[in-house]
Amino acid sequence: MDSSHEQSALHPAGPAAERISELWWLMASLLGVAFLAVAALVYLAVRRRAGTDTPPLGTLRFILVGGVAVPLVVSLVLLIDSLGVTRALRLPGTGVTVEVVGHQWWWEVRYPDLGIVTANEIHVPVGRPVRIMLRSADVVHSFWVPNLAGKMDMLPDVINRFWVRADRPGIYRGQCAEFCGLQHARMAFTVEALPPAEFQAWADARRPKPATEAAPPPAEHARGLEVFMASGCATCHTIRGTGATGRVGPDLTHVGSRNTLGAGTVPNTGGDMAGWIANSQKVKPGNLMPRSYLAPADLHALVRYLRSLE
Ligand code: CUA
Repeated sequence: MDSSHEQSALHPAGPAAERISELWWLMASLLGVAFLAVAALVYLAVRRRAGTDTPPLGTLRFILVGGVAVPLVVSLVLLIDSLGVTRALRLPGTGVTVEVVGHQWWWEVRYPDLGIVTANEIHVPVGRPVRIMLRSADVVHSFWVPNLAGKMDMLPDVINRFWVRADRPGIYRGQCAEFCGLQHARMAFTVEALPPAEFQAWADARRPKPATEAAPPPAEHARGLEVFMASGCATCHTIRGTGATGRVGPDLTHVGSRNTLGAGTVPNTGGDMAGWIANSQKVKPGNLMPRSYLAPADLHALVRYLRSLE
């Protein structure tokens, strides 16, 4: 999908983001007018002082209207509209449920009803409400995909729920919006909204297969899998259908189909993946993955195997 959208709360692509951007424009215009009015009064006051003694706007009536009544009305309008937006964010209906777990510094993405586990790239069907359940595995993160919805904190031990709906297909960039450590800035994700039939095909291709259908990797990738199992990768990562069941790092069952590595840090190319495995600390210092000391042939086999996992 090539339709990538600029990450902006002012380019809404769903009902929640639309209401938020309307509120933003209302606030910006009302407060912009208030700012200009105050600036004009300050200007008048400064200019008057030199010439005349009587301030032209110093009557009690002006103070009551301009200083009390108007600000009260403006604040009330904004309050009422904000409450309306909060109500509108509670999208009704049932739809796909996605669990997103924040980690330092990546996003675990789970579809409990579909049995799919992935990372950093969320797929949703266009036009359908998607229930998002947020929590954190460590510190406080914040889930923010401005084209689709407002921010929501991700807390350890508490599940925060909200809804999003994407009304146009495309890829929407999201970003962690709560400082969560050294690589907070490199904690990006995408929400890819697919037409319902395409979403179904995406899900069907990734749904866990019954054990009878799960095939071992082809012979050409046997060495890669062997390196993966023997070099400590499997302690932290899961690849479904193999003996690798680690839960510390991202699930790699379909890593070959992802667009980026390291939560949006580098593109998912062979070279970048090899560099990441060899020494991800150079690419994203402070992340939990230690550097590896693989022989070049083993690293090559490992990368070829991982990239085959679509
Ligand atoms: Cu996670 Cu900032």
